[in-house]
Amino acid sequence: MSDLRPTAVIVLAAGEGTRMKSNTPKVLHTIGGRSLLDHAIHAARGVAPEHLAVVVRHQRDRVADHVAEVAPEAVVADQDEVKGTGRAVECALEALPPDLTGTVVVTYGDVPLLTSETLRGLVAAHEGTASAVTVITASLEDPTGYGRVLRGADGGIEAIVEQKDATENQRAIREVNSGIYAFDSVVLREALAEVGTDNVQGEKYLTDVVAIARRRGLPVHAHLIADLWQTEGVNDKVQLARLGAELNRRTVEQAMRDGAVVVDPATTWIDADVTIGPDTVVHPGTQIHGATTIGSECVIGPDTTLKDVEVGDGASVVRTQAELAQIGAGATVGPFSYLRPGTVLGARGKIGGFVETKNAQIGDGAKVPHLTYCGDATIGEGANIGAGTIFANYDGVTKGHTTVGAQSFVGSNSVIVAPRTIADGSYVAAGSAVVSDVGPGQLAVTRAQQRNVDGWVARRREGTATAAAAEAALRAAAGEPTPADEDSTDHETVATEPKDVH
Ligand code: UD1
Ligand code: CA
Repeated sequence: MSDLRPTAVIVLAAGEGTRMKSNTPKVLHTIGGRSLLDHAIHAARGVAPEHLAVVVRHQRDRVADHVAEVAPEAVVADQDEVKGTGRAVECALEALPPDLTGTVVVTYGDVPLLTSETLRGLVAAHEGTASAVTVITASLEDPTGYGRVLRGADGGIEAIVEQKDATENQRAIREVNSGIYAFDSVVLREALAEVGTDNVQGEKYLTDVVAIARRRGLPVHAHLIADLWQTEGVNDKVQLARLGAELNRRTVEQAMRDGAVVVDPATTWIDADVTIGPDTVVHPGTQIHGATTIGSECVIGPDTTLKDVEVGDGASVVRTQAELAQIGAGATVGPFSYLRPGTVLGARGKIGGFVETKNAQIGDGAKVPHLTYCGDATIGEGANIGAGTIFANYDGVTKGHTTVGAQSFVGSNSVIVAPRTIADGSYVAAGSAVVSDVGPGQLAVTRAQQRNVDGWVARRREGTATAAAAEAALRAAAGEPTPADEDSTDHETVATEPKDVH
């Protein structure tokens, strides 16, 4: 008995896909963060075939490049000018070793919801019945467009006839060919050599292999599948969205089965390659894309978009846009934060409201809480970046890097002109423009000394409400009765340096 590893999986992806009305090859359109073809390749790889072949022709180079990227082990087989699924498979066999034996599985590059489990079931059924051909079939309410399955008096499959070649009676049959098969490789190769192009479309049909095998008295079986989504192909952009939504529904459901709380599955989009730990809560309006991994007990969203982001356990990411970023365990991000590529936020760190970061390593427990641009920077452990700080990293020609040391404190509304180093344990006074490095333990103050000009309001703003308020306040301070004679509290201004807001 076989170990159920097929000898080869052949993925057909040479078709034109004209109904997509797109410059992008059909199989390169994406749902759930992967191309349609990549979904097909994932399903194929899941059955661990000895060989994986992808047949290309339309926009050949773009599709072949994509295959090289997502499945470098795959053989790219070029289909020639002879049309049809049969010719496509023949071209794949020509690109594979000539002495193949065992089971060959054929799938389509535009059928994205097919799973490895289904292919395993197909191979098991095929080998279990020692069949020459096993066809995945489905019974459809509306079989229009599909090849119909013709069964003999004994219930066995006799042939598959295409819609365009079918008689009225044959078109009434609701059992259709999914286009996914397991073949005995020797039968397949020999039968394909016999298949002609004498049909309405003038194509070499793979489906004709069924009738040829039957004529030789070989066993052909149907493998009826109930989950129709798995056999549905994408032919236009309406189907792309329809299958994309169904894939998402399945992915979100799986995330919940794996322990995540998804508050509103209808407005939550999770790509196929995302992982989410148990007890993480995903709030409405959240999109989690690419190779994002999220730990356990996090809070994600609402209204958050993450792409290729790593989020540590217990972190909170609220109303945030982030790409190619790492967010440490227990860290907090948002609301209204924008994390660009290269952002690394340490454990228990904070990136707060209206903060944009890029290529910024922010240490454990460090905080960038408000209204800041932090680009090309390294911020040490426990440092605090005051509200409105700007890391001026670009001089119009080159980008410079800034380091802020551990436990240092940058006062609000400062601009740090890169390249700059602010040492561990130092301070920058609020409102400074830092253009030279700051040493350990120093306070940098760069703004002009404050000067209070007595009587300026009375002289320059005479007759205004401000002047009246000043006069009243001065009288009160001098202990003179004011017209209203309200209680006058002493306002003391403490001029400490620097000041941050929280
Ligand atoms: C095919 C089947 C039909 C089945 C249907 C299921 C044949 C003759 N017909 O019909 O019985 O019900 O799929 O969806 O096989 N392709 C190539 N090279 C080609 C032609 C097609 O690689 O020359 C690829 C396409 O890229 C696509 C797949 O084969 O991935 C199916 O092609 P398509 O034209 O959609 O086949 P149908 O006519 O729909
Ligand atoms: Ca099709």
